[in-house]
Amino acid sequence: MNQVNDKTGILLAAFGTSVPGADAVYENIENKVREDFPGHDVYWAYTSIVIREKLSKQGKVFLSPVQALGLMAEQGFSRVALQSLLIIPGLEHHDLIRTRASIQGLPKGIKEIRLGDPLLSQSQDLERFATAMLKNLTEIRENDEAVIFMGHGSVHPANVYYSALQYHFWLRDEDVFVGAVEGTPGLEDILPLLEKKKTRKAVLLPLMVVAGDHAVNDMAGKQADSWVSILKEQGIDARVEMKGLGAFDNVVNIWMDHLSKIL
Ligand code: CO
Repeated sequence: MNQVNDKTGILLAAFGTSVPGADAVYENIENKVREDFPGHDVYWAYTSIVIREKLSKQGKVFLSPVQALGLMAEQGFSRVALQSLLIIPGLEHHDLIRTRASIQGLPKGIKEIRLGDPLLSQSQDLERFATAMLKNLTEIRENDEAVIFMGHGSVHPANVYYSALQYHFWLRDEDVFVGAVEGTPGLEDILPLLEKKKTRKAVLLPLMVVAGDHAVNDMAGKQADSWVSILKEQGIDARVEMKGLGAFDNVVNIWMDHLSKIL
């Protein structure tokens, strides 16, 4: 076997974002990958077709996972470590599972594709994430602030991960809440808990890789139905921290460990 046909490459698959500047956290992740796994070529794919189309209208071309794997096959990679940069094993991750199964072993293609777990997969990921974020919060949180994370949410059964993560936070800190903008628990489930605890102050953070469109609009937007506006309406002194999870090194390290498992 010649060397050209015996290369292992890394493919990072993220949801993608069209918010200018928000993709800086992807760079942060890529730098970490290059640092931790030197000697491997690193490729990117965006799983969201909506985002890819938006970006292509601005002249920015991003590949889908299928396209990126096709390109890597053309370029002589026989093995690919496909790392899911998603949060939960929901719809987008299950698409990656099916993509991997469909493309692995095609004639003259990639012999082996391994898929790395999203951020929150095993129970230990949730424990580790909760501990890491509480550590990060010591720098962010002001006195007596409750913390409310806005996750994306999913119609996939993996939506239960948000409740599971809530459990792991509550074991450590009763004033940390996990909600989902397009799933359960919603903010409406969290409000009565804040009332019961007589919460006066809160800081909101996206439970998403980048502080993208949902963070900018649904979490931090000026309109009456954004999470920050709803909290203020309830008399809670609420503010936002526009920092995606990809900006926290101890969180990125969880993905890096998933990647190291498949390399
Ligand atoms: Co959405």
